[in-house]
Amino acid sequence: MTARAAGVFDDGSAERRALMNVLEDAESEKQRLSAAQRAIMNILEDFADEKRQLELGQRATLNLLEEIDTERARAEAALLELRQTVESLRKAKAAVEAANKELDAFSYSAAHDLRAPLRGIEGFSEALLEEYDDKLEEQGRVYLRHVQACARQMAELIEGLLTLSRLARGELQRAEVDLSELARNTLDRLQSEAPGRHVEIVVQDGISAIGDKRLLGAALDNLLGNAWKFTAKRAAGRVEFGARASDGVTAYFVRDNGVGFDMQYAGKLFGVFQRLHSAQEFEGTGIGLATVERIVRRHGGSVWAESAPDRGATFYFTLGEERSQ
Ligand SMILES: Nc1ncnc2c1ncn2[C@@H]1O[C@H](COP(=O)(O)OP(=O)(O)OP(=O)(O)O)[C@@H](O)[C@H]1O
Ligand SMILES: [Mg+2]
Repeated sequence: MTARAAGVFDDGSAERRALMNVLEDAESEKQRLSAAQRAIMNILEDFADEKRQLELGQRATLNLLEEIDTERARAEAALLELRQTVESLRKAKAAVEAANKELDAFSYSAAHDLRAPLRGIEGFSEALLEEYDDKLEEQGRVYLRHVQACARQMAELIEGLLTLSRLARGELQRAEVDLSELARNTLDRLQSEAPGRHVEIVVQDGISAIGDKRLLGAALDNLLGNAWKFTAKRAAGRVEFGARASDGVTAYFVRDNGVGFDMQYAGKLFGVFQRLHSAQEFEGTGIGLATVERIVRRHGGSVWAESAPDRGATFYFTLGEERSQ
């Protein structure tokens, strides 16, 4: 169709339509654009949210860092305090050890010096009894025998003190020690010294420890000797030696079914010359458990007891780390 021919129908409507189309296109373009704008606004809003969140997170992180700093400062202060406490404990321990050594030296020389006058008392009362026998009345002889008995008892106490202070001296000779064997030897000896007694003896096999054989033997002698002595009035005595683990530490024990004691006095037992039974009931000087305590302590362990009157007693001990004392 020529331009002219087209002009036949050209009443302007074609241009209007075209214009309309263009306008429509422009409108839809505008809508698209504003939709895109909205989308962009949304995205921007989201970003703003995100930014706010990030800021919050940053603030929280900063707070956390500050808290960590405060905590660290607090931990450092606590550590410093702990170090100071350890240091003052170390000093106190050194002071106690020095005082103990001094006390040991004192009791050794005191005990040593007491021996000579005591021998004088024993010797002269013996001489009186022998040489003046005809001049003494019976009551006089009784008194003199009391003097002798007291002197003998005092000699035993002095020997105990000397033994005790000797234990504090010298280096520990550490080696593997078969405690079961030591216990059996002691109990065999006790049985042979008192063949009339019927005591059930139970010794757990294969108990060994690292320690000083002579000292550990002395500790067992005392504990087993006590168990033996304090079951003497039982028709069927029972003495046991064993070991058990408690909190990963081996606790060795000596148990008996003897007269026992009131736990109220348990703390006193390990003091020098402390006795819960009279000498008439059970003989002794009260130095045995102090000796045990000293030996166990030198091995870095501890000793304690469980008992009830007439229900037997169990003495436990541990042997810990090497000690310098
Ligand atoms: N197995 C036990 N059963 C009951 N009481 C005990 C036992 N072992 C110790 N005791 C009590 O503890 C006290 C102190 O014991 P420790 O061994 O020190 O002295 P001791 O046996 O009396 O005398 P020593 O051992 O010097 O000959 C005893 O006198 C006794 O009262
Ligand atoms: Mg004893």
